[in-house]
Amino acid sequence: MNTMESFRLDGKACVITGGAGMLGAMHAEAVIETGGTAVLLDISEEALEKAKKRLSDKYGPLENKCHCVVADITDELSLRNAFSDIIYATGQVDALVNNAAIDPKTTAMAIDPLLTRLEYFSANDWTYELDVGLKGAFLCCKIFGSYMANNHQGVILNVASDLGLIGPDQRIYRKDGVPEDDQPTKPVTYSVIKHGLIGLTRYVATYWAANGVRCNAICPGGVYAQQDAAFVSKLENLIPLGRMARIDEYKPLVAFMLSPASSYMTGAVVAADGGRTCW
Ligand SMILES: NC(=O)c1ccc[n+]([C@@H]2O[C@H](COP(=O)([O-])OP(=O)(O)OC[C@H]3O[C@@H](n4cnc5c(N)ncnc54)[C@H](O)[C@@H]3O)[C@@H](O)[C@H]2O)c1
Repeated sequence: MNTMESFRLDGKACVITGGAGMLGAMHAEAVIETGGTAVLLDISEEALEKAKKRLSDKYGPLENKCHCVVADITDELSLRNAFSDIIYATGQVDALVNNAAIDPKTTAMAIDPLLTRLEYFSANDWTYELDVGLKGAFLCCKIFGSYMANNHQGVILNVASDLGLIGPDQRIYRKDGVPEDDQPTKPVTYSVIKHGLIGLTRYVATYWAANGVRCNAICPGGVYAQQDAAFVSKLENLIPLGRMARIDEYKPLVAFMLSPASSYMTGAVVAADGGRTCW
């Protein structure tokens, strides 16, 4: 194959978990713009409807470009039903992006920032967040990865984070005027999930290497999304490039990791973080 043409995903069906979320929608654009079919799998039907509308406004009739499926990745039966629906709709699965996660703001942080602290972090939030971030990724590997391994071809991309490589710098989450012991923090679950995804990546990469399934991880840094200016400034100071990522800045990386252009990569952990983890 011509090397530069290998960046394409023509005829490939790529399942994206959390596909209706902020970055999931960008991964979908990466797949569509390189000729593939983006299969958006998400627990939120409403968010999927919005994502589909946005994609059809941008790309016109979606037909073979995009399919949406409602499923809970923590529920094996729900995922098996989704798998059947996807095979019915697309006839195949060529790639899986394990992207879904729980935004910590939606759990402990929304109720009380104090609850993000290790001393108060609830076992329920631990279980819920690990179920989505790790068990969900494992179940998707089990169902979609096994199918791809049986077909002797496929790609799995796990979306970790720069915080899968380093510990969070809790100073950037601090709020003025809040007592020391009550300062909000990045929750422990985020670090555990993102480091865990890297372990899953290396396990699956070696497990299915002989079956033609590659598995890699990307470690994106934070994306600008109307965060508080003080937080942005503190985070930018930790990043050699001096800025957070633009929302669409990971699209070429995702297309590369899913396409045959990365054919000699498996078990790789690729940081795309403006250099944060090398400082
Ligand atoms: N946003 C960033 O700055 C950033 C930085 C580094 C890494 N990441 C990682 O990128 C990924 C996407 O982040 P995002 O900001 O787009 O998140 P998001 O919250 O916008 O999207 C997550 C999606 O996952 C879905 N989801 C939640 N539970 C689910 C379940 N049980 N089954 C199926 N779907 C479920 C949600 O409905 C949502 O649409 C995450 O893994 C995140 O940790 C994000």
